[in-house]
Amino acid sequence: MLIRGGSRLVNQQIPLKEKSIVFIGFMGVGKTTIGKLVAKKLYRDFIDIDEEIEKEFQMPVSQIFNEIGESAFRQKEKDIIINMCRKRLQVISVGGGAFLQEEVQKECLSSCIVFFLDLSWESWKERISMIIDSRPVLQGKTIEEIEELFYKRQKIYSNHHSKVHTDHQEIEEIADYIVESLKLAWELYG
Ligand code: S3P
Repeated sequence: MLIRGGSRLVNQQIPLKEKSIVFIGFMGVGKTTIGKLVAKKLYRDFIDIDEEIEKEFQMPVSQIFNEIGESAFRQKEKDIIINMCRKRLQVISVGGGAFLQEEVQKECLSSCIVFFLDLSWESWKERISMIIDSRPVLQGKTIEEIEELFYKRQKIYSNHHSKVHTDHQEIEEIADYIVESLKLAWELYG
């Protein structure tokens, strides 16, 4: 079974086929890229939560952290996610720290189908230079501290409906796998 607790997922107010899909995982694992592709394949709208937060504050995430503070960012993140999760038929990419908030976890897991994009530390390390400038949470940390954060976060991401291993896989392959597993769950439980 690719999606855990399929039958449990049905016993909710939103029909399984109409539930929004949420992507979680550490910074830079490809939630936005894969989410966009899955949305395209399913003919659904794609929502990037960080982008929505940036629109609200009219500044990039790093500037929000520096000038307004992380707690205001987290509050806005929670409000937007809860709002979006209650809409049907969306594909949503949430920031890597969103699941630190219990209310966010609960809402995503009860209203949506949650996919955890799992990349190994070894593969993730190779991406660090590409993402560090736009990720305030990583800045000023040693590689050992980032590794510690990476593994600490993995525990939080263990709350999901389906885990997708993304090491050595093409974006297209990953998106196809996700779409196929969704179709299977819809067929079995939808
Ligand atoms: C964060 C992840 C970022 C963004 C912010 C904080 C985190 O999103 O929300 O910089 O705490 O992990 P991505 O996971 O899309 O990089």
